[in-house]
Amino acid sequence: MAIKKHITLQLLLVALILSFANGEGLKLGFYKKTCPRVEAIVKTTTASYISRAPSLAAPLLRMHFHDCFVRIKGPAWPVPLGRRDGRVSNASESRTLPSPAANITQLISIFASKGLSVKDLVVLSGGHTVGTSHCSSIATRLYNFTGKGDTDPSLDSNYVTQLKSKCKPNDKTTVIGMDGSFRSFDDDYYTFVLKKRGLFQSDSALLNDKETSAYVKRQAQSHGSKFFNDFKDSMVKMGKIGVLTGNAGEIRKQCALIN
Ligand code: HEM
Ligand SMILES: *[C@@H]1O[C@H](CO)[C@@H](O)[C@H](O)[C@H]1NC(C)=O
Ligand SMILES: *[C@@H]1O[C@H](CO)[C@@H](O)[C@H](O)[C@H]1NC(C)=O
Ligand SMILES: *[C@@H]1O[C@H](CO)[C@@H](O)[C@H](O)[C@H]1NC(C)=O
Repeated sequence: MAIKKHITLQLLLVALILSFANGEGLKLGFYKKTCPRVEAIVKTTTASYISRAPSLAAPLLRMHFHDCFVRIKGPAWPVPLGRRDGRVSNASESRTLPSPAANITQLISIFASKGLSVKDLVVLSGGHTVGTSHCSSIATRLYNFTGKGDTDPSLDSNYVTQLKSKCKPNDKTTVIGMDGSFRSFDDDYYTFVLKKRGLFQSDSALLNDKETSAYVKRQAQSHGSKFFNDFKDSMVKMGKIGVLTGNAGEIRKQCALIN
């Protein structure tokens, strides 16, 4: 049993490494010749791993390790394989994630700098339909928004009460759900954002641009008709950012180390 688990974990890691791919040289079926069953193996292994440990789905998604064909009771999408590993590993360079306090102008420009559109921004933000956040990520928003011990007025006041009951000031350990249904990948995120219940300023900020707010309203009203498909498209696009293919980079012998 223990051995089986270990093997499954290793296969999962293989899945993650393989799915860490992209660009021009990427294609579905990249490993057809060298490892014909890899996509099937990755698919079943990751799916079964996630079905046994659903809480893994959110961190995986967050790490953009939205591996091959994973089903999180929601959308599934094929990730083109064939990415190679970088020869440089630099923590400060990889920390390019936007701040949860980012405003809409900053978000649009960060996404644009990665070749992602305003639509990609509002669609991918829907990833916050699953997973959790530490209280520390919203502490300022709840307790000291402008430095005067105040709360962000763009949050619904009932939601503020609810959040404050879970997150006390200076709490660095408690985690809370991202949206009201944080265990399932659904389209409720947009309903929450529209009700001023977006957890981060970056979520609420989607109401401050014509295009993003129109998308939020459409999804909240029409219940997800297009979200899953849009999400797949934008995830594949995001997966192609800064990927090394062809002769660039290398294939690591040990995944944590440069050869
Ligand atoms: C738009 C800009 C974004 C900002 C500012 C942002 C910010 C954050 C922050 C602050 C957290 C919580 C960290 C913590 O306190 O534990 C988080 C978690 C998360 N983010 Fe984002 N994020 C963004 C975009 C995305 C995108 C594009 C995706 C995926 C498509 C994503 C998926 C997730 C998920 C699934 C979690 C929960 C992880 C878990 O449960 O362990 N986020 N994000
Ligand atoms: C890592 O990247 C930063 C920012 O580009 C740079 O200033 C720093 O020198 C790099 N560190 C190493 C060890 O390459
Ligand atoms: C967004 O934040 C930047 C940096 O703090 C600021 O210069 C800009 O005025 C802000 N834009 C909006 C629309 O709030
Ligand atoms: C609130 O923010 C102000 C200004 O940044 C800071 O001086 C003050 O110490 C903060 N208060 C708390 C309780 O953190």
